[in-house]
Amino acid sequence: MENSTNAASNGTSVTGTGGVSDGSWTELCTFSEVPDGEGIQVNVGALVLAVWRVGEQAFVTDDTCTHGEASLARDGMLDGFSIVCGLHQGEFDIRTGLVLAAPCNKPIVSYPACVQGGHVLAKLERVKPS
Ligand code: FES
Repeated sequence: MENSTNAASNGTSVTGTGGVSDGSWTELCTFSEVPDGEGIQVNVGALVLAVWRVGEQAFVTDDTCTHGEASLARDGMLDGFSIVCGLHQGEFDIRTGLVLAAPCNKPIVSYPACVQGGHVLAKLERVKPS
C-alpha cells in the first residue's frame, strides 16, 4: 500500500479482495483505510474505483474524471459530498455521481455502498444517476 504525500489527494491504492458477503456485494477495503473526508483508489479487476469516507459513511464511485484522465481520489479534493477534480476543478457529487461544476458534463458512475464488519462493500453493477 502506498500513501500519497499530496495533502490534496491522499490517494492510496489498494486492491479489492472481491466476492464477500452475499455474492452481490464486493469487499473493497477496510473502512479504517479511508481517512475521514478523503478518498482512496481501489482496483477491482478492470474497474478503478474511488472509496470515499464522510464521517461514518462510505461512498463508491469510478475514480477517473469524465473530463480527462485525472484520478479523483489521488488528485481531487473532497469538500463535504463534493469531489473537486484536481486537474480542471470540475466537480461531482459522490453520493450520486452527478456533475456539480464544469468543465465536466458527464456524471461519474456511483455504486451502492455500505460499511459492514469494518469493511467497505459495494454492488458493482452500474448505477445510472437520476
Ligand atoms: S480532468 Fe477532471 S475536470 Fe478536467
